[in-house]
Formats: sequence, C-alpha cells, structure tokens
Amino acid sequence: MSKTKIKFLISAGPTRERIDPVRFISNRSSGKMGYALAEAAIAADCEVVLVAGPVALQPPTGLENLVEVESAAEMAREIRGEAPSADIIVMAAAVADYRPVSVSSEKLKKNGEDLILRLEPTEDILAALGADREGDSPMLVGFAAETDNILENAKGKLLRKNLDWIIANDVSKPDSGFQSDSNAAVMMSKTGAKLRFPLMDKKKLACEIVDALIRQYSGFKSETTL
Ligand code: PMT
Repeated sequence: MSKTKIKFLISAGPTRERIDPVRFISNRSSGKMGYALAEAAIAADCEVVLVAGPVALQPPTGLENLVEVESAAEMAREIRGEAPSADIIVMAAAVADYRPVSVSSEKLKKNGEDLILRLEPTEDILAALGADREGDSPMLVGFAAETDNILENAKGKLLRKNLDWIIANDVSKPDSGFQSDSNAAVMMSKTGAKLRFPLMDKKKLACEIVDALIRQYSGFKSETTL
C-alpha cells in the first residue's frame, strides 16, 4: 500500500525525574505548544504520533496515537522506536537535562541536615537522532528555549544537534514560552532561512509552523533521497 499522509512525530510537555516515591525534578512545561502542534498537524490531514510527558491537557481531537511517558529515558525509548517511520520529528518537549544518579525506593526522611542530590545528564534525544542520521532520515526540528542571546544560542543547537530547523523561543517573558496560551518564535533552517512569527495564540502559531514544515518537506525529501 502506498503511503500518502505525512507522518509527524511530536513530543510535548515536561519529563519527571524521580528522586524518591513522592518527589521528582521537572520543569514548567504545560504541553500546550506540543499539543497545539499535534492538533495543527491532524487538521492538516497528517498522521500524528504524540509522545507526551505528564500534562493536564485533553488529547487533541482525532489523535489516534498518544504515548504517555514520565521520564527522559522513557521519552527517549519511545521516540527512538517511532522515529524510523516518521517523516517529520518535532521535539517541543522540555526534556529534563539531568536526573538523580540514584532513586530512593523509600521516601527520603527529613533530618535537619542539608540534602545533597547528585545529578547525571539524561540522554539528549534530539542530538542522538541528529548524530544517527542517514540518507533518508526524517526531517528533524527542535525547539530552543532561551532566555538570552536567543538567536545565537538557538543557531548553536541547530548546528550541534544536526537539525534541519530550530524554533527559537524566548522563554523569559510571561506571555511566551512556558505555560502561556501565546508564544512568539523565529524558525531558522540549517541553510540560513528565517521565518519570524510575532506573538500569537499557541494554536495559531502551531498552524503556521506545521504549514511551513509541510511546505519545506517536499524539497527536503527530494534532497535526502538523491
Ligand atoms: O509546554 P508549554 O508550556 O506550552 O511550553 C512550550 C515550550 C517552552 C516547552 C516549548 O515551546 C519549547 O521551547 N520546548 C523546548 C524546551 C527545551 O527543552 O529546549 P532546550 O533548548 O533545552 O532543548 C533544545 C531541544 O533539544 C528541544 O527540542 C528539546 O526537546 C531537545 N532535548 C533537550 C534535552 C534532552 N535531554 N533531549 C532533547 O531532545
């Protein structure tokens, strides 16, 4: 059977890295940006797999494949499993960069002393996908959550992680980035193209990003299958 729909693999939300049975390290991602992207891709008649960390959102209408995960390691495993069949991978999740070296099986007791937590880096999921790229690998799109030198830092991630596009996101303002209903972004390609999206509702921004990626995809496909 010939494949007709473009398949998006999208990640959303935070990850949680356990300390003990009742505590974890996480971040402020609500999942709204990633869920809005999934909704926009479904509306554009694409197939969508959404891999989501713990969020308090209703699954997008029409989504058939929602994979719920907790930790960075679980997200890495699910993304790796789905990646080979995807056409476009968009990592909107705020994956924890560090996790506790050891997880206590019992609730840690308070004893009045300082508690020192030793952390180790998690796998960088996107960087690993970028490093493993072969001829016809999926189009790779990252988000860069930045508070300073936004475009410069985002460009660094685009190049270091071997991506096709990066979406630079200023997360220092209350009306954009984490948790807000609105967002502003600059999409940059490895070939130097730039698309600027002013502050708008996250759902509208998601439609603009998905439209841009679908437009770019046919050119990308012909380049990578040469
Ligand atoms: O969820 P919301 O509340 O709507 O907020 C949206 C958002 C701010 C979370 C989103 O727009 C966003 O910017 N997501 C990326 C957050 C992030 O982790 O950025 P980063 O600059 O630290 O990471 C760069 C890229 O590498 C990201 O695509 C990230 O998913 C990926 N990454 C990071 C760490 C890691 N261990 N593995 C990864 O794959």
